[in-house]
Amino acid sequence: MTLLPQLLRKQLTLALEKTDAEIPDGFQVAISLAKDARFGDYQSNSAMILAKRLKQNPRELAQAVVDAGEWDSLCEKPEIAGPGFINFKITTETLQNHTLKVFSDGHLGVPQADPAQTIIIDFSAPNVAKPMHIGHIRSTFIGDCLNRVARSLGHEVITDNHIGDWGTQFGMIIYGWKKYLNKEALAEDAIRELVRVYRQVNAEAKADEAVMQACRDELVKLQQGNADNHAIWQETVDLSLNQLRSIYDWLGISFDHYLGESFYNDRLGPVVDELTEKGLAEESDGAMCIFFRDIPALAEKPAIVRKRDGGFNYATSDLATIDYRVSELNADKIWYVVGAPQQLHFQQIFAATKMRGKNVDMTHVAHGSILGSDRKIMKTRDGDNVQLLDVLQAAVERASAIVKEKNPTLSKDEQKDISEAIGLGAVKYAELSQHRMTDYIFSWDKMLSFQGNTAPYLMNAYVRTRAIFRKLGDDVTFSDAVTIEADGERALAIKLTQFGETVPDILNDFRPNLLANYLFELAQTFHSFYEECPILKSEGGTRASRLVLCELTSRVLKQGLDLLGIRVTDRM
Ligand code: ARG
Repeated sequence: MTLLPQLLRKQLTLALEKTDAEIPDGFQVAISLAKDARFGDYQSNSAMILAKRLKQNPRELAQAVVDAGEWDSLCEKPEIAGPGFINFKITTETLQNHTLKVFSDGHLGVPQADPAQTIIIDFSAPNVAKPMHIGHIRSTFIGDCLNRVARSLGHEVITDNHIGDWGTQFGMIIYGWKKYLNKEALAEDAIRELVRVYRQVNAEAKADEAVMQACRDELVKLQQGNADNHAIWQETVDLSLNQLRSIYDWLGISFDHYLGESFYNDRLGPVVDELTEKGLAEESDGAMCIFFRDIPALAEKPAIVRKRDGGFNYATSDLATIDYRVSELNADKIWYVVGAPQQLHFQQIFAATKMRGKNVDMTHVAHGSILGSDRKIMKTRDGDNVQLLDVLQAAVERASAIVKEKNPTLSKDEQKDISEAIGLGAVKYAELSQHRMTDYIFSWDKMLSFQGNTAPYLMNAYVRTRAIFRKLGDDVTFSDAVTIEADGERALAIKLTQFGETVPDILNDFRPNLLANYLFELAQTFHSFYEECPILKSEGGTRASRLVLCELTSRVLKQGLDLLGIRVTDRM
């Protein structure tokens, strides 16, 4: 489907070409949403920018463009504002037709990517034998949202949970497993027991060099393929994954692969050999390193790919992972949704990949931190990380108390279902409505409020649309024409057509918050429409047309929230 701004861009380009202005090569006109709806729906600053380049008067050029254009039925004659902005107001006729097109489009007006690409999204990626903590919210929810958005645009997406399942911590875990493991506690809550054992050994090893050495020996045995140690490692990974998977299931998040670090073990040596042969890695102080002498930002920061003791590290493992993703998974793009502190690591492996001559488009989709009310990284009273599962459970409990109070007549099952949708939705929305680089304060009251830019507010707008159809029962006819008369109808219709503009934009800079903001504005616009334009009390064509707007709002809210990973319910 062609979007309204695309149509405007086309007409604006034609108009510009009809003026005397000499258009420089590659110059493209731009259309954006109007800053102030009173002056129109869209605006363009292109005449201003071009006039500046051509040293002409911007308002005069804008006027020439407006006069030269054939705006037909697309928009009213554009108006010029301020220093040379051109404002466009879509005609009622075009808006009516376009809204109807969006209503009958299976993608709700979201254009499909052409060409579709194969995109690997690397997100969540916790380390095994440790619980996921509140910090994992960011990568997990942003990654899941990008996955949903890219798929909805028609891309081939492969989600890969690159879990940290290989590392020096296994020396201590294996040592502790053999000595201190409580099998019953393990069966009850595997990760908790593994953490307990790890902590105990860690404390001992700090105090006693002999224990430290024993742990190192266990690690070496694991790395050399010792069967007992390998079996313990495997069981640890399996048990951890079971627990992780149940959290993902609850959250409605799934991965195509769980190819953790251990998967690449056998590929690490060959990567370093190849780097050495090509002269890309060289020895420095006994370690093998890649130097980035031509890249100023990295000139002083080589990446170690083999340590002095012969061990490989995080960078080696990521280089091997890229090889696999490019050659076996045919990746065109790889997105890493990982916290900002790993920026240097990704700069290094991206630079190394380029030096190796691999052609794949990679992005570090970085994010900031979640803070407690003291503006510091959130911790429990004991100074531990706040566990993700505890946060999710608390959210659902709090939601449950609110639901019971608001709607005491719901059945038990309904109450549970709605509380889960609200609780989990609230935590997800609090994340996704923020710019990913902003550090934000985790606040229960804010995220669970039914007012303001929150999940409950949006879910409630959806519930309101469903309530209308419930009241009507079978008495629903959608008109095959949308008629726009009232201001509230116009504002809602134009907003609805902008869903298709918003969704692709998310991927420009990986910003789920653009969609959250859009949905919030849509819900507000719907509420105003609802106040201004009676539906049940209206009749005939007016009612049938308003029902189209109402049903379309319902679909866009549901689909939009689904792209954020948030489930709606019919009642609340
Ligand atoms: N497990 C890593 C961590 O917890 C994140 C892995 C991110 N993905 C990657 N391919 N490096 O920090």
